[in-house]
Amino acid sequence: MGLDRGVLPHLSPAAADALRTAFSRSRYTTDGVRELLGNSAHAALGRGEVEPAHRATRDGGELGVLVRLLLLGAVEPDAAVASALAPLTPADAAAAGLLRAVEGGWAAALDLRPYAEEEGSGWWVLSDLDAGRHERDHVTGVGGASLTLAAATDRTPVGTLLDLGTGCGVQALHATRHAGAVTATDVAPRALAMAAATFALNGLDVELRDGPWLEPVAGRRFDRIVSNPPFVPGPARVDYVYRDSGRAGDDALAALVADLPAHLEPGGVAQLLGSWLHVRGEDWPDRVRSWLPPGVDAWIVQREVADPAMHVGTWQRDAGLDLTAPATRAQAGAWLDWMDAERVEAIGFGHLVLRRTDEPPVVVVEDLLGEVTDPLGPEVASWLRGVDWLRAHGSDDALLGARLALAPGVVLESWAEPGDDGWTAAGTAVARPDGPRWRHEVDEPAAALLAGCRGALPLGELVELLAFAHDRPAGELVAATVPAVRELVRHGLLVPA
Ligand SMILES: C[S@@+](CC[C@H](N)C(=O)[O-])C[C@H]1O[C@@H](n2cnc3c(N)ncnc32)[C@H](O)[C@@H]1O
Repeated sequence: MGLDRGVLPHLSPAAADALRTAFSRSRYTTDGVRELLGNSAHAALGRGEVEPAHRATRDGGELGVLVRLLLLGAVEPDAAVASALAPLTPADAAAAGLLRAVEGGWAAALDLRPYAEEEGSGWWVLSDLDAGRHERDHVTGVGGASLTLAAATDRTPVGTLLDLGTGCGVQALHATRHAGAVTATDVAPRALAMAAATFALNGLDVELRDGPWLEPVAGRRFDRIVSNPPFVPGPARVDYVYRDSGRAGDDALAALVADLPAHLEPGGVAQLLGSWLHVRGEDWPDRVRSWLPPGVDAWIVQREVADPAMHVGTWQRDAGLDLTAPATRAQAGAWLDWMDAERVEAIGFGHLVLRRTDEPPVVVVEDLLGEVTDPLGPEVASWLRGVDWLRAHGSDDALLGARLALAPGVVLESWAEPGDDGWTAAGTAVARPDGPRWRHEVDEPAAALLAGCRGALPLGELVELLAFAHDRPAGELVAATVPAVRELVRHGLLVPA
């Protein structure tokens, strides 16, 4: 069966209403589908194993029809589809670009699935079928990177929000829950049509603008900008519009980082995903730092590092290519040659948080290569609050006058090394059990000081007590502990009481 990608999705308000009615009636929602399938078949489907889901939907009524048609890629008979989609007719669904008439009934022409960030409330998202992954203008659904950015986005309520490179519209959907007005842009007509249909289906009012990068919002400012841009570094070409910027290496990200802050309101925050090159003889944090314009607080967190072979393999696999096919090998060869020529040793991937500020900017570029346990969104909000607090307590005197407490759950870990006389203490660290699970090695005075950080006494008084107990000059202890205290506040191990 060939894919007819000639029709761009278009949902009239009436068709969108009708489809919403049908989906709500049959409980074609994340909760409804999970209940119908049961945990085992649901998990199997997540792994791409469809048979358990087929079995679970046998007696599933209208919902079973919708799951087989839209999630399992099955052909369903006309009468069953007509009753599951009513009041929308199958012919109208086909005219809207959602279904194709095939022998034996109807098949999905697009991926149309429920999506939710929490139980009990959600949306429906339209994207291209996976089978069309090789197409240059393929519109991806909610994938790993989409979820990574969504989980890392600060959801503090804001007035205006821009989603740059909206694709199927997933970031904008989240944004409608915490932003007064949402604008979404894309350069690809197919993505714009998909996003428009997603927003219509969910009855959401999102302003859609057409054009590359920041051109569609020239002269405008936003309280928040989110973007999961085409960030995959390689030679200057576009094989897939969702992935390739058309500019060489990380040039497009560099330009975006330089240009975005001018589109932020004072205090406004941009959050994006990105990839940067590790170039032989160059320090990657310096490279990323050099892109920042003045007047921007920045937190740049590297989550993954891949060597060139891993990078190319990952993205070719992601595109569903046969890695042994001559054309795939030729593409990999050209990609690896380009990285050799550019002296690229590795490719980093991570989060960029940029905040427009009139204060002397704080820029932190760091690694967070392990697993994180919770969504990073609240972490971003508290990192920004921490920067404000540290700025307000910029002098040692101000910091020493503050009351701080260890965050709930923080523990002190000690370890020892074996030696001729048994175990010998080798170090101590304080660690957070949650979120990014930051862990900082601390020396004995710092550990003792932290033990006293219970919010009751100002830090300066704790230092005095410690100096007295250890018979050391207080000034020496201040110099030894204050920089560590600042880092611990930034990473949320110490919180203002
Ligand atoms: C990685 S996808 C992200 C889609 C969606 N926002 C998400 O989070 O899943 C990147 C999107 O950027 C769009 N895009 C590519 N080049 C662009 C450009 N120069 N300006 C604006 N958008 C662009 C693509 O069409 C695609 O929809």
